[in-house]
Amino acid sequence: MDKKLFIETLGCAMNVRDTEHIIAELNKHHSYSQTDILQEADLIIINTCSVREKPVAKLFSELGVFNQKKKPDAKIGVCGCTASHLGQQIINRAPYVDFVLGARNVSKISQAIETKGMVAIDINNDETNYDFADFRTSQYRCSVNISLGCDKSCTFCIVPATRGEEISIPSELIIGEIEKSVKSGAKEVFLLGQNVNNYGTRFSDDREKTSFTQLLKDISQIEGLERIRFTSPHPLHMDDEFIEEFASNPKICKQIHVPLQAGNSRVLKDMKRGYTKEWFLNRCEKIRSLVPDVRISTDIIVAFPGESDEEFLDTLDVIEKVRFDTIFNFKYSPRPHTPAQNMPNQIPDDIASQRLQRVIELHKEHQDEIMHGYVGKTFEVLFEDLKPNGEVFGYSDNYTSVFVKGSEELLGKIVPVKITQAFRTSLKGEVV
Ligand code: 5AD
Ligand code: SF4
Repeated sequence: MDKKLFIETLGCAMNVRDTEHIIAELNKHHSYSQTDILQEADLIIINTCSVREKPVAKLFSELGVFNQKKKPDAKIGVCGCTASHLGQQIINRAPYVDFVLGARNVSKISQAIETKGMVAIDINNDETNYDFADFRTSQYRCSVNISLGCDKSCTFCIVPATRGEEISIPSELIIGEIEKSVKSGAKEVFLLGQNVNNYGTRFSDDREKTSFTQLLKDISQIEGLERIRFTSPHPLHMDDEFIEEFASNPKICKQIHVPLQAGNSRVLKDMKRGYTKEWFLNRCEKIRSLVPDVRISTDIIVAFPGESDEEFLDTLDVIEKVRFDTIFNFKYSPRPHTPAQNMPNQIPDDIASQRLQRVIELHKEHQDEIMHGYVGKTFEVLFEDLKPNGEVFGYSDNYTSVFVKGSEELLGKIVPVKITQAFRTSLKGEVV
């Protein structure tokens, strides 16, 4: 009889991909169908994120609730970055948890479900992680890891401790995987890595170095593949060659994440980000000058230890100058295994909240202006979902959500749409 899997995914796109990996591994050896109803599940997995403190605290309360509600013989597993960083402590604190698998160990899921108390959190390179999963959540999009881990040492970030050192996946494996997905209907690939544009600097064998720009060129040769997206690039590695490829390659979606973190150069130095305010502005200006209607998203941390009121103004200044299309904003959260947690001048929470609010308000003004500026323009939209109200949903090539009236005939097609109405995070239009 089919068993049922309940899986909750927190955090970033890497985790979403790891969840696909877990499901595919399970499908290889067992028969699980997915359920959204916890009480029905035979296996319950939380794929966790540890980048900020709050979700970690939430994990234990959630585990407690899951344990009370679950079927008596259902198993509970904790995977992902919090599994990597807390390991055995999770079972010590919540003894009903059956196994703990770190972010670089998800390929061991089959063994884990058979081994009560298994804890696998090694962050060393393990090539079974290259063995791509044959499962995807979207019919028209496949996600593919191009590198694992992170070699940077941003002083606020726990990720190098949970995902280990950066290693690039051989390009022939990446291309083979995309070709396989395209054959089964994917039109778009989403390339994933902690620092995608550092691709090609280290492999697990002694092959020649290559570059992300070269990888993009090679991937765009794949017949039948219509769109390429990627996340996250690092501002430091945005050389001219990369930006020019981004601008000129028609298959690359005109949306890019450029994580700022802070606008002040001294704060950026304390964060060990490797770039200055001027470099960041220069890169964004170059992108905007080469790519009309490009959408730039960013991550911002306010109240990093030692950030003065005046230094924070540089963050607002960068927001004003770049006019980001999307901002993921965070209050600095001290994390274990990171240098910043021991830095002097940790900023009180009320100041952090005020700064966050200023970021949110400034950004809202820009967002409204940008979205309304799209009315009357025509975008190429890849339609992927028919809604119950008769609208069809898709993303424009600069990755804005677009709704039109239409039928399932539009699904999987890229069609020009004239925008008629703008909201803060989505657009309505008519097929032209
Ligand atoms: N506190 C707040 N935000 C953080 N991020 C990473 N570490 C922290 C932290 N300690 C944010 C960064 C990163 C995003 C994924 O999460 O902005 O780009
Ligand atoms: Fe964390 Fe910095 Fe690596 Fe991003 S680049 S995962 S912020 S250490």
